[in-house]
Amino acid sequence: MRMVIIGRPDTPRVAEAEALGLSVQLLAGPHDGDAQGLLWMSLHRLNPDVVWCVWESLEPPDVELIRQYRVIRGATRLVVELPAALEPPDAAVSTLVSLGVYDLVRPTDALGAVLDRTPHYGDVARWHAGGDGAGPTPLRSSGPADPEIAAAQTVAVISGKGGVGKTSFVSNCLVAAAPWGAVGIDADFVKPTLHLAFQAADAPLPHELDQLLVALESGSRQRATEPWSPRDQQTLRDWVRQADLITDGVRLVPGLSRTRDVLPAVPPGVVTALAEAAQKVARLTLIDTPGSTMEPSWVEAVQAADWLVLVTTPDYAAVLESIDVLRKLDYLHIPRSRVWLVISQRGRSGYSTAEIVETQLPLPLLAVIPDNPPLWHQAWRLHQPPAVKDRKTWADIVRRMTGLEPDRPRQRNPFRIRRRRPALTSGR
Ligand SMILES: Nc1ncnc2c1ncn2[C@@H]1O[C@H](COP(=O)(O)OP(=O)(O)OP(=O)(O)O)[C@@H](O)[C@H]1O
Ligand SMILES: [Mg+2]
Repeated sequence: MRMVIIGRPDTPRVAEAEALGLSVQLLAGPHDGDAQGLLWMSLHRLNPDVVWCVWESLEPPDVELIRQYRVIRGATRLVVELPAALEPPDAAVSTLVSLGVYDLVRPTDALGAVLDRTPHYGDVARWHAGGDGAGPTPLRSSGPADPEIAAAQTVAVISGKGGVGKTSFVSNCLVAAAPWGAVGIDADFVKPTLHLAFQAADAPLPHELDQLLVALESGSRQRATEPWSPRDQQTLRDWVRQADLITDGVRLVPGLSRTRDVLPAVPPGVVTALAEAAQKVARLTLIDTPGSTMEPSWVEAVQAADWLVLVTTPDYAAVLESIDVLRKLDYLHIPRSRVWLVISQRGRSGYSTAEIVETQLPLPLLAVIPDNPPLWHQAWRLHQPPAVKDRKTWADIVRRMTGLEPDRPRQRNPFRIRRRRPALTSGR
């Protein structure tokens, strides 16, 4: 095996590799920005089996050059030795992971042991998450204004790909969250569908989002960081307080009606402000997000949340995009320790649950939702989420997801649809 080591002249790795009988060549650094172009060029020529790169000898590391090298020499094993002091999350390391570099090692790791094992994505993801693999923990404990509302929690439900079951998940959790008291916010401004889980598409939407946008006086703010006026803060709070009840104790802040021809642009900061307002009136806030992580409302939703629930189906493309979502969260400095995984087995084929959790998306598994096309079709057609009939399953998910116990007395059948209208399609 031929190995190239990129490191300081005195790196002990050379002696370690030679002791194992490897053919080793040292490209001694430090390598500054300009020298790194030549460095990776010479690696193309040398074409070793393994490149062992001591991160500190690149000053500073040029990740783009590494990307180019990976594209051309994808079969070469690239081991990156990170400094002991480097703490996650780290943007450059996240990029390496996204390039498929899973051989991230520490100075204390023995060279022989590193070369003997086959690293996979789970190893590095765990490093990012802080190592213990325990369930998510909230970073922020939101301070509800109402002292009666203890320990408010906000959960954003996200995915890397559209159509995996986010809105289905949110609508069921909302139904089951009645004993806690909850607000659901539809942050999918391009294709709002959360209200369609509870009412027909042609039914009027009394609290349509555009009425709020008209009422906001500082709606033309350019940046999300600009403060809302006190009057706007009151407007936002009233908006959430007066949102429609979908069941006792659960309100829904919908997006825009699907019958509109033109969708108004939603100014920055609205999701953040709605989430803050919701945190003050309910113990649990659930945010449904767009399938595209490029939407500004997606970023606001994940930043407002205590926990994230990443929903994926088991197929290759959905899992791949979910891995990409984790990388985006790294860029946003959102620790992976705040992310739950939900596998919606829609379509069924793809990775097994064990494969997903052990090698692809090593996150604590919150729930596996079985594939059941007729059940879900009926649920959407009749605007009654399955949790109406199967409260226990979904209440258990809410309990586990938030760590909260309900503090409202249980009611017999609190679910009721306020405006029952004929369904848009007959189902035939
Ligand atoms: N476990 C399941 N088994 C079968 N079908 C399902 C399951 N979960 C959801 N579905 C169906 O998948 C479709 C998409 O679900 P949903 O709208 O919840 O996805 P989404 O992630 O919110 O999509 P989008 O990204 O477009 O907002 C729906 O038609 C729903 O009935
Ligand atoms: Mg949706």
